[in-house]
Amino acid sequence: MSSSVSEPTESSPAGPTVKSSPRGGLASVSRLVKLGRCKNVVVVAGAGISTASGIPDFRTPGTGLYANLAKYNIPYPEAIFNIDYFSNDPRPFFSLAKELYPGRHRPNYIHYFIHMLHHKGLLLRMYTQNIDGLEKISGIPDDKLVEAHGSFATASCHLCYTPFPAQEAKSSIMSDKVPVCTFCQATVKPDIVFFGEDLPEKYFLHSKDFPKADLLIVMGTSLQIEPFASLVNTVRSTVPRLLLNRDAVGPFQKVPLKKGDYMELGDLVDTVRRFAEILGWHSEIQDLMAGRENGTILTSSFPASSVLSRNVRGRGPTQTKTTGLGRRGASEPRGRIPPKSRPGARGPSSSSEKSDSETDSKSTVSTVSSSPSN
Ligand code: OAD
Repeated sequence: MSSSVSEPTESSPAGPTVKSSPRGGLASVSRLVKLGRCKNVVVVAGAGISTASGIPDFRTPGTGLYANLAKYNIPYPEAIFNIDYFSNDPRPFFSLAKELYPGRHRPNYIHYFIHMLHHKGLLLRMYTQNIDGLEKISGIPDDKLVEAHGSFATASCHLCYTPFPAQEAKSSIMSDKVPVCTFCQATVKPDIVFFGEDLPEKYFLHSKDFPKADLLIVMGTSLQIEPFASLVNTVRSTVPRLLLNRDAVGPFQKVPLKKGDYMELGDLVDTVRRFAEILGWHSEIQDLMAGRENGTILTSSFPASSVLSRNVRGRGPTQTKTTGLGRRGASEPRGRIPPKSRPGARGPSSSSEKSDSETDSKSTVSTVSSSPSN
């Protein structure tokens, strides 16, 4: 198998344009899929898959969330998701959380493409860093999804991990009150993973999934945050890896690319749509999307009054350095400490976290009429 790269052409006033090489990554990978060589696809995703839904990513200069936190008066952008900072003063995060809570945004074509991988019986697992919940809304079932940086779907005490009703936490936060743990009186927060916290238990599935993968698709992430970023290096060395992103990131920055690595640079919706067209899935994805969205307007943006919109102007870009999420450092992906070692911690039976055997046997409801192809 040969590797191929989409090479940037000369810059234009509108920014660099990208053209695909004749043996482009999409064509090569599509051929493998059509030949039936990719039946255990792992998708690794980040904020770039949700920008088409109107949610800013984190690190794009100017528009990214980290470039637009001036009003919070925090010492550095990532402090907003730092557990020690939160412990000391939860107000900046709670203020931002009011804007981040899922509900205002809809999945886009990219989410439905991933759902289609599942529908075709090809998706082994999707690992997302996103906390917007759009994967679930698009219908990707729980058992196919690892929300590595947690979600707003549950809440617990940031100190003793006693579960707290998520809806009650949301109501408090939305009305500028601090939700307090009924057990230890410490502050409750939604279960999104902060810097300095362990990743969810379900993240451990990676140790089984990545060695089993026969295709890795990396989408919309800067691969800057560990331990998540290193996951892409844990597939077998012969497994094709495809990066779909605006720019080359992580191991895809290597020139030339490693044999078996492919990338297609550009806007993700355009790229994914072309991928779907080559695969012959485009109209099925459109049907799936139309069926689930049921007439809902698909793209939206934060309201004009939101800090994210308001502060975009007049703030320079903020570029952060590679940062580790969790206490254990970049080279050692670890999941959340098993609950029994922490009194009051969330148990494995929490609603969104099923065991592997449960997940593999769970069936899926889909609005598309054809059945999985394998
Ligand atoms: P980043 O903002 O770091 O990276 C997003 C990537 O997607 C960048 O490479 C963008 O160029 C690319 N991108 C954005 N929009 C795109 C588009 N329309 N088409 C193509 N590419 C596009 O976001 P993540 O990698 O997800 O942690 O960030 C990882 C973690 O850092 C987050 O989960 C968050 C943050 O700190 C927590 O919140 C705990």
